Amino acid sequence: MLQFDLLSTHGPEGKARRGRMTLNHGVVETPIFMPVGTYGTVKGVMPRSLHDMGAQIILGNTFHLWMRPGLDIMESFGGLHQFENWHKPILTDSGGFQVWSLGEMRKITEEGVKFASPVNGDKLFLTPEISMQIQTVLNSDIVMQLDECTPYETKGHITTEREARASMEMSLRWAQRCRTEFQRLENPNALFGIVQGGMYENLRQESLEQLVEMDFPGYAVGGVSVGEPKEDMLRLTAHTPHRLPAHKPRYLMGVGTPEDLVYGVQHGVDMFDCVMPTRNARNSHVFTRFGDLKIRNARHKTDQRPLDETCTCYACAGASGIPYAEGGRDGFSRAYLHHLDRCGEMLGPMLTTIHNLHYYLNLMQEMRDAMDANRFDAFVAQFHADRARGI
Ligand code: GUN
Ligand code: ZN
Repeated sequence: MLQFDLLSTHGPEGKARRGRMTLNHGVVETPIFMPVGTYGTVKGVMPRSLHDMGAQIILGNTFHLWMRPGLDIMESFGGLHQFENWHKPILTDSGGFQVWSLGEMRKITEEGVKFASPVNGDKLFLTPEISMQIQTVLNSDIVMQLDECTPYETKGHITTEREARASMEMSLRWAQRCRTEFQRLENPNALFGIVQGGMYENLRQESLEQLVEMDFPGYAVGGVSVGEPKEDMLRLTAHTPHRLPAHKPRYLMGVGTPEDLVYGVQHGVDMFDCVMPTRNARNSHVFTRFGDLKIRNARHKTDQRPLDETCTCYACAGASGIPYAEGGRDGFSRAYLHHLDRCGEMLGPMLTTIHNLHYYLNLMQEMRDAMDANRFDAFVAQFHADRARGI
């Protein structure tokens, strides 16, 4: 089940959207960012903290959960929600992108993907049907079709239009197979189709038209942020979302920086996921309203300010939630986070992850609030001014 209500449209061309998605495990206000929880955990973050920072839906991964702990255990728990103790909506990626990331280790044919398990070397075969069967056991609120994520280049060879077409057409056939299997399984959740087509807009147009004809409850834009130059990434982001049906949710896969999220929303994207806030946090890279900072740098050694003086997250404002700029003095200092990083203490990445996710989720909340107050364009201008200010 998936219901999408389009509440209002914004921006100079009316492409930006405020919406609401109702899924089997709850309601999701859009536009939304979805924290990545590949192995059934958003790395280093307790579900309670995810609730506190306003997470409404998180990701899981078909491929990883199939490898470990495996389907028998998932089945015995009645799905991923119970297993990981997260009872709000979950979206699972199909495994297509993760198998693609294996590189040399796999062979893709019309039937599916053959590969050696990275865990124990077992020979495995992932097909559109098997991906649907796994995601049905996981009971994900949003199931993604198995697709082939067309690479930008392979060993220095840039994917040609011919190659991108063959790949895109196979993903379309897989979309149809996924749809058939999803229905056969009587899965009560929602299946999304994924637009592919490499760097070629004509192919992406064909892909989206065929997927729309298959009538999915939602659509994703895939094959973006796969190593292409930034200008191509922005061109692809701008191309597809507004061409998809207005009354269905649109998901841009694997993107991106805070600027990319704002750009995506301006062009009609409703949903995002990216490892950037969580992965970068574990590498001492922090996102803030006033630009990014590297907590590992020596210049933070004696700095008693929080990461972001306006932030209400647990790392910046402590349990009180009162921002430093408003007189709160309950958070953790840059000096302390720098110290934790230098000592390799696990609290360091836990706190920076909480902060980065809070920043991403709050950015989406601010965009939704700005739309509701009919001041989205002013918000975007302020966002860029703030980010350029520096920290
Ligand atoms: N994650 C990021 N990009 C992609 C994509 O093209 N396909 C899938 N399945 N997942 C993705
Ligand atoms: Zn913070």
